[in-house]
Amino acid sequence: MSEVVTAAPAPAAVRMPPVPVGPKVLQAIGFAVSRRWMMQRLTRRYGDVFAFYSPIHGRIVVVSDPQLVKQVFTASPEDLGNIQPNLSRLFGSGSVFALDGDDHRRRRRLLAPPFHGKSIKNYETIIEEETLRETAGWPEGRQFATLPSMMHITLNAILRAVFGAEGAELDELRRLIPPWVMLGSRLAVLPKPKRNYGRYSPWGRLDYWRRRYDATIDKLIDAERSDPNFADRTDVLALMLRSTYEDGSVMSRKDIGDELLTLLAAGHETTAATLAWAFERLSRHPEVLAALVEEANNGGHELRQATILEVQRARTVIDFVARRVYPEVFQLGEWGIPHGDSIAVSIAQIHENADVFPEPDRFDPRRYLERKPPAFGWIPFGGGARRCVGAVFANMEMDVVLRTVLRHFTIETTTAPGERRHCRGVTYTPKDGGRIVVRRRESYPKSIGPR
Ligand code: HEM
Repeated sequence: MSEVVTAAPAPAAVRMPPVPVGPKVLQAIGFAVSRRWMMQRLTRRYGDVFAFYSPIHGRIVVVSDPQLVKQVFTASPEDLGNIQPNLSRLFGSGSVFALDGDDHRRRRRLLAPPFHGKSIKNYETIIEEETLRETAGWPEGRQFATLPSMMHITLNAILRAVFGAEGAELDELRRLIPPWVMLGSRLAVLPKPKRNYGRYSPWGRLDYWRRRYDATIDKLIDAERSDPNFADRTDVLALMLRSTYEDGSVMSRKDIGDELLTLLAAGHETTAATLAWAFERLSRHPEVLAALVEEANNGGHELRQATILEVQRARTVIDFVARRVYPEVFQLGEWGIPHGDSIAVSIAQIHENADVFPEPDRFDPRRYLERKPPAFGWIPFGGGARRCVGAVFANMEMDVVLRTVLRHFTIETTTAPGERRHCRGVTYTPKDGGRIVVRRRESYPKSIGPR
């Protein structure tokens, strides 16, 4: 019998999608100044796959076609790995953002239990308390921006539920974190200078805050460990301190500090921005608002959940995620992308794609009442091995904040045009901060009252 010899598959050849003509430096500047505008223009011109030059990542292939997105998110991490450089420039080498391959898988396994649905239930009371406390200061009958309030709520929620912080450490972190996150968010999209320009330079300020943060985290870890109820604590820090990797080793103090900071920075502004957009959208959609109030009064949550999905689609706060190509050539649909290039999924463009979401400009939570959102079309939390670790936490938090506000306040509606998008570096927020007018309802807890 003759032996059948199967030829090894020929290595894929490099075949790049269209790259805009014009100097690379102009593309890089366009991206740094207004990446949303640039992505929209390039998508309109070249379709749902093209390449361009970013100031810090070099050549990036951008995709906004669900089939290609599926390919990116289901690729093995050995083929499509961590984008370089990434946000670990700000959080440290112990951050999950810094890890790749097996190290990343191990950390994700360690982080999964605290962010699992069952653990998340414990945090609902904290979120409700923080919402009531923050909204106690809301003025009645005059416009105000909800974003600062949402930033306070999401910061306090993470500091209490994730860091387990109380007392002096809670106060110190509350002071330290907001200006740091704001500056870090702006610097995240810029190249880091090679030279150190001293304490008063932007990167010097970040280092200074980091030292103060580390000192506070050390105190926090000591306080948690000496708590007689340490074994029963449900904050994420306690869960991290108690958990072990498969080989029995534990996370180092430095890694815990880096990771807490990562969770805070990744989860604070993103959730606050989405909530501010929710108020901005609802005040302009009286029918949806009225139906949500009725549902909240009756203890339901289905429409509220659909509304959260629609806000995340229609006002996407993180516009893209990216991976790095490791093999010699990565076959992406009909294209062959060479080693060292990056592939970005343009979340914002896919959320505005009329083939995926008919009439994308229409804000309509009912889209999801009968049908689940498309797996590789609705992707505000990214996807695959690096999908947002805090997605369930964020969803619970947004649900509890909205439910609490809808139950205790009347939100006035407006015919004013929608707020424009404002880029804070990493996240997109409503330009005027999600301004609304509210009045307290009868159900407003008397014990809290206006401040
Ligand atoms: C509405 C709120 C949020 C949005 C829109 C959001 C969005 C995202 C996105 C797009 C990614 C990148 C995923 C990818 O590369 O495929 C991500 C990663 C991540 N998010 Fe979130 N996020 C939110 C809330 C949170 C919260 C509350 C936490 C934690 C408390 C969190 C922690 C993280 C972490 C640690 C990562 C890195 C995961 C990894 O690299 O393995 N996020 N998030």
